[in-house]
Amino acid sequence: MFRPRRSKLMNTQEIQSLFSQSFSAASTFVVRAPGRVNLIGEHTDYNDGFVFPAAINFDVTIAGAPRDDNRVRAYSVTFQEFSEFELDNIKHSQKSPWCNYIRGVALSLQKAGFPIKGMNIAVAGDVPIGSGLSSSAALEVASCLAFEVAGGFDVDPVKRALLGQQAEREFVGVNCGIMDQFISSLGRKAHALFIDTRTLGYESVPLPEKGISIVISNTNKARGLVDSEYNTRRAECEKAVEILKEDLPDIIALRDVTSAQLTRLSSKLPERVLMRARHVITEDERVLESITALKSGDIARFGVLMNESHDSLRDDYQVSCKELDIMVNAARKVEGVYGSRMTGAGFGGCTVSLVKDEAVEEFKRAVGAEYKANTGLAATFYVSTASNGAERLV
Ligand code: GLA
Repeated sequence: MFRPRRSKLMNTQEIQSLFSQSFSAASTFVVRAPGRVNLIGEHTDYNDGFVFPAAINFDVTIAGAPRDDNRVRAYSVTFQEFSEFELDNIKHSQKSPWCNYIRGVALSLQKAGFPIKGMNIAVAGDVPIGSGLSSSAALEVASCLAFEVAGGFDVDPVKRALLGQQAEREFVGVNCGIMDQFISSLGRKAHALFIDTRTLGYESVPLPEKGISIVISNTNKARGLVDSEYNTRRAECEKAVEILKEDLPDIIALRDVTSAQLTRLSSKLPERVLMRARHVITEDERVLESITALKSGDIARFGVLMNESHDSLRDDYQVSCKELDIMVNAARKVEGVYGSRMTGAGFGGCTVSLVKDEAVEEFKRAVGAEYKANTGLAATFYVSTASNGAERLV
């Protein structure tokens, strides 16, 4: 996954001036696409299930200008290097892995028949390092938008998400679901996005306007094992469907199985496969209930469901880790915290907590101190507002 060093938030003028320095000419456009935090619905998207993420105010920003030839010349502000490729001969870069996301998107656009053109781009990112906040999806979606502007065509935002996902799966080689690219493309300010990952139907749900903060706590523990364990979990879910199909021939994915059916058929599944299926099925139920709770202003219930989500990810899906559990436990002790859970794929990265505004300072102090005392690591906190998805700024 794309792991930029954290640089300071880049404003439009800064990225434009970095472009000018890198290419000795002015840029003609600036685009951005955000990272994301998932509020609830973890490891459900590759089971045709439900997710509920929000776009965050950390982005990948790209300033660019079209070229007359077939070449893409990209400068990474984060890695301080150029990488370039020809659109009629797109290959992996060993030297500049960050550029593979851009190359993969170019290839997906070409395969889908879009008339992409060469361009010069300067790319800056401030999505926190390897933190499970989807810097790779932000880069894919921002790159897609840059190709759209440079080539003079529009891609539907859902299609843009699918092209980004295709780039990540087929070119970068990470077998991800659709959640990250979808929210990066379609996020809406002050809203979280309920996504049905089977139909790709979605609904923006307003977040409470005042009184409550979304606090992202970074364990600053590099996410070990995440890619291999992710693939193992996917395979276990597929195994569960294969076995359950013997009794439930109409099911396509775990999305189609109810908790009652799983309980009835539990003896047919090996213990570990049963645990994985139980997480996914109950998590889908929690997402649906959490949307109802949020819409009716029942934040307390939403928080309880977040807590249950974490416990299920820890015990049944087994994708948490010591650092995430310590962080979540510390958060739950703070008065004014509605709920706290790991967010993203797991094995390190971040937690997300819903916190009363007036408790945020105490949250940072108490959670930071307890986390440090128990892990030796310093946590980083981001109080996030939900932002818009991908957009052209200039
Ligand atoms: C990663 C993947 C997503 C999703 C989450 C877990 O972020 O890219 O598609 O599967 O893990 O919910």
